[in-house]
Parts: sequence; structure tokens; C-alpha cells
Amino acid sequence: MSDTFMTADPHDTFSLLEGMLSSSAPRVRAGIAPAVFEIRALDVSYGSKRVLHDVSLELPEKRITAFIGPSGCGKSTALRCLNRMNDEIPSFRSRGKIILAGQDIRGKGVDITALRRAVGMVFQQPNPFPMSVYDNIALAVGEHEGRSARSTMDGIVEQALRQASLWHEVKDGLKGSALALSGGQQQRLCIARALAVKPAVIMLDEPCASLDPISTARIEELLLELSTDYSIVIVTHNMAQAKRISDKVAFFLMGRLVEMGDALQVFEAPARSETAEYISGSFG
Ligand SMILES: Nc1ncnc2c1ncn2[C@@H]1O[C@H](COP(=O)(O)OP(=O)(O)OP(=O)(O)O)[C@@H](O)[C@H]1O
Ligand SMILES: [Mg+2]
Repeated sequence: MSDTFMTADPHDTFSLLEGMLSSSAPRVRAGIAPAVFEIRALDVSYGSKRVLHDVSLELPEKRITAFIGPSGCGKSTALRCLNRMNDEIPSFRSRGKIILAGQDIRGKGVDITALRRAVGMVFQQPNPFPMSVYDNIALAVGEHEGRSARSTMDGIVEQALRQASLWHEVKDGLKGSALALSGGQQQRLCIARALAVKPAVIMLDEPCASLDPISTARIEELLLELSTDYSIVIVTHNMAQAKRISDKVAFFLMGRLVEMGDALQVFEAPARSETAEYISGSFG
């Protein structure tokens, strides 16, 4: 197993200035974070339809970056480029550079399994496997690492569930079906599954879209906690959510990156009029 893309060191943390869940002000964290990903001049098309145009941006390490913008502007496409999930779409073509840990992940020799382990993905609809809570995590780990001894696996499962703030709710029902959990619990299980393979980056595409406000708040709280150790990219249509949890915001419009900056700057003093219109709810 290649460790090329394993850059996370959970013990090397940046300090959190404030927990911002209860605040409506964009959050501000101390220090300048180095980039975990660098996207340079990325163009993407599906067949003859160009959907991303000359996108360049840097994703900061151990911070939360929110991709925002109206439906169809290319947020999910941009996200899926980061672990090459678009490769499975036959009409997908891309040009440019996507650099992770010094390596262009668009290159031919890239170990896709290692990449997907380093850059995990959580989807809009919670998608646990139709099996037990325990096996959801064990299977994910097994796919990436081969079979582990039972005692080792027990520890990995517990740690991932604890990290995803789910352990106390499921520890007495690890053999129960994951499908019997609530939507919010299922989404935290999917986060646990991503965490279990020790990623550097976690991407979440509208992870709270199908959840109630309390489940949403728990996920937001969890992401804030996780951002001490992991680089997080979230796609969201919820401006209040982006404001509450993100450090950086990237605003896309019709396949172009209109503006990217600190959440405080983008929300309080957007540089571009299109951004101002979007975040004030005039379109999208
Ligand atoms: N598999 C595909 N084949 C062809 N076109 C696609 C495919 N996936 C996305 N597109 C097109 O690419 C453009 C960008 O889509 P994408 O899903 O990235 O947008 P989005 O910003 O995530 O939108 P939403 O907020 O609705 O999820 C859209 O015009 C969409 O129709
Ligand atoms: Mg999308």
C-alpha cells in the first residue's frame, strides 16, 4: 500500500480560536494554514459541455473550505476531481493541475486507491452499506488495508465511531443494522467510515441536505472538531452553515471561480458584486 497521499498527522494541530457553532459571525482562526491541495487552471468538460473554466485555488490544511454557488455551477464536479471520482464518467475530460502532497493527482501513475483513502468523500444522502454498524467500518478498512486481526479491528471501529461522535449512541448495538439508525446517525457513520482509513482530506457534498436542524447542528459541531486534525471541503447551499463553520469560502458561478477568501471577508465584504448578490439571496 502506497502512503504517498497520507499527509495527515493528527497530533500536529493548529489552535482553534473559538468554537463558532452558536455564533452567526463568520469564524476566524489563528495562523496561516499551508495548502493541502493546489488546483491550477483546471478546465473540465463532460463531452462537448464545458463545466469548469480555468479554476485555480488552494485548499488550506486543517481548515474548513466551503464551496458555494447556484445549482449547476460546478461545485460537485470540482469536489469530485479531488479524488478522481469523475474518472468513472466516460464523457469526463479535464486539463490543468491538481496537486496533493507535491504530486499532480491527474497523472497516469497515481495510485487511485491510496488517493481515495487520503481524500475521503461523504455524500448528500447518507449511504451506509446494508450491514451492521461494525461491518460498515470494518469493510471500509478492509478494502483499503486488507484483513486486520479482530482485536485490531475492534479498536479501529471504536476509534472511528468516537471521532464521529457516534460511539455512545451505537456502542451497545454494533451488530445492529446501520439502516436502522436515524438519518443523522447514518451520516455520522458515513463520516466514521471515511475517518477509519485515516484520510488527510474529507470532502462532504451537501452532507446536511436531508437532515433536520438538530442532526445538522451535530454534524456542524463534529466538522468543527475534526478540522483540528483534517482538511475539510464542504459543498453547501446553506449560507448560514457556510458562515458558521467555514474558514474559507469559494464562490462558483457558471463554472468559474468568482471569488475565494476568508469566510469573514467573503460574507461581510465580498469583492465581487455577483458574490454579494448570491449570498444575500438574490439568486441561486
Ligand atoms: N455526469 C455528468 N454528465 C454530463 N453533465 C454533467 C454530469 N454531471 C454534472 N454535469 C453538468 O455539469 C454542470 C455542473 O454540475 P455539478 O453537479 O458539478 O454542479 P453543482 O454546482 O454541484 O450543482 P448542484 O448545486 O445542483 O449540486 C451542470 O451543468 C451539470 O448538468
Ligand atoms: Mg452538486
